[in-house]
This record gives sequence, C-alpha cells and structure tokens, in this order.
Amino acid sequence: MAGMTIHLRVWRQAGPSQPRKLVPYTAEDVSPDMSFLEMLDVVNEKLIAAGQDPIAFDSDCREGICGACGLVINGVAHGPEPGTTTCQLHMRHFKNGDSITIEPWRSRAFPILKDLMVDRSAFDRIIKAGGYIAVNAGAAQDANGILVPKPVAEQAFESAACIGCGACVAQCKNGSAVLFTSAKVSHLNVLPQGQPERYTRVVAMVDRHDQEGFGSCSNEGECEAVCPKEIKLSNIARMTREYVRARLAGTR
Ligand code: SF4
Ligand code: FES
Repeated sequence: MAGMTIHLRVWRQAGPSQPRKLVPYTAEDVSPDMSFLEMLDVVNEKLIAAGQDPIAFDSDCREGICGACGLVINGVAHGPEPGTTTCQLHMRHFKNGDSITIEPWRSRAFPILKDLMVDRSAFDRIIKAGGYIAVNAGAAQDANGILVPKPVAEQAFESAACIGCGACVAQCKNGSAVLFTSAKVSHLNVLPQGQPERYTRVVAMVDRHDQEGFGSCSNEGECEAVCPKEIKLSNIARMTREYVRARLAGTR
C-alpha cells in the first residue's frame, strides 16, 4: 500500500544573520509508523541525492529523554500530541495530503544557528548559575543517611523530569523560560540536600534567566500546555515564593 503524501513548508536559513524563507517540499510514501524526524530524514536523503543542502535540525536520543529535538509544527511546539517530544511524534497523527509548516523555536534568547537548529546555551548558563549542590560529596552516603519524605522525593522527581528542550520558551508569547527555570530550582530546593543554598540558588538562577533575555511570566500557561514532560505551573509559583523569601532575607 502506498504511503501518505505530506506537503511541507520548512523554515530555511543558511546561518544566524542570513535571510530566511519557508520552502515547500513534498514528503512521499510516508509510513504512519515513521516518527516525524524519520519523515524529515527521508526528505533529507532525497535532498542529498539531488546535491542540495539537507534541512538542519537537532536530535539525539530520539526516545523523548534528552531534550535535543524540538520543532514548531503548525504553530505548536513539539506538534499536536500532548506530552510528546518531536522525536516521539508519529506520522499516524497526520493524514494523507496534510500540509505541515515546520519552524524552529523562535525566541530572542534562542538565536537561530541554521534552518531549524537554535542555540539553547542560555539554558546551560542558567544551570551554571545555581542548578547544582556545591558540597564535597566524599564517599557515597548510606542509602538512608539523609531521610527524604516520600512526598518531597516525588515532588523533586516530578520537577527533575524537565529535559531542557525549550518548548516552553518557544510557545510563550513573552519568550519566558520560567517553567524550565522553576523546574530546575524546585528539583533542588525541595530536597534536604538543597537547603543550604536554597536562597542563593533561586536568586542566581532567576537573575541569570532575566540577563539572558527571556521574558517575564504573565500566567498564559502555554508552557505547561506544550511541555512534553508535563511540568506543572505550580513550579513557577514555588519559584516566585522562594525568590521573594530570599530577597526578604537579604539574599543578593
Ligand atoms: S519545562 Fe518542559 S517544555 Fe520547558 S524545557 Fe523543561 S521539559 Fe522542555
Ligand atoms: S531527540 Fe532526545 S528528546 Fe527528542
């Protein structure tokens, strides 16, 4: 049985300050079992065979765990399936003859490198500002050396599920990265091990977020709606509380 024909319009841009345009391509014989990125791989094989420049996009694990992939698909970061990364989105969610527009994450703090690839190193710098516990860990602790109540462990685990993909920024009309930043702050600030640096961490990470050019939060909730790991808005509320407490305590 012949596969689907999909009409694509893909953002092409040769470099950061090069002109950009949406270029039409036709993906033919697309299997419903292909992932979205496999569909693009096939388009790229044809482009390479024709001596043309393949479409640049990021991916690594293709299992929904590394955070490398990310495309805006018909205006939605990671596409139409909730709780799903671009690499885990399958072509069965589209139908024969569909038109799909594919764009990169578009945000001032994520400059475009080429085509659909953006520079997300601003996230690394937010982590570097405070997303760690600075203790001399020494030898491995006994398993129960630091008791962590189960609800606290579960909260930390939920927040730690953020894979740093940047979809939250891409979908936010303010280009805000507070869902990402709050997940990373929460993950450490709720744990007993995170308490000594609790206030310096939240101030350093929030300040770095702002310096990187990400926007402020105006409670739109678009970030939560597209997050492939379903990180909750309650992380943002927690981070705001932590930040206010830290400032009231005189933390700079
Ligand atoms: S909060 Fe969600 S959308 Fe944002 S970087 Fe983390 S996993 Fe990606
Ligand atoms: S390629 Fe790793 S999450 Fe998509």
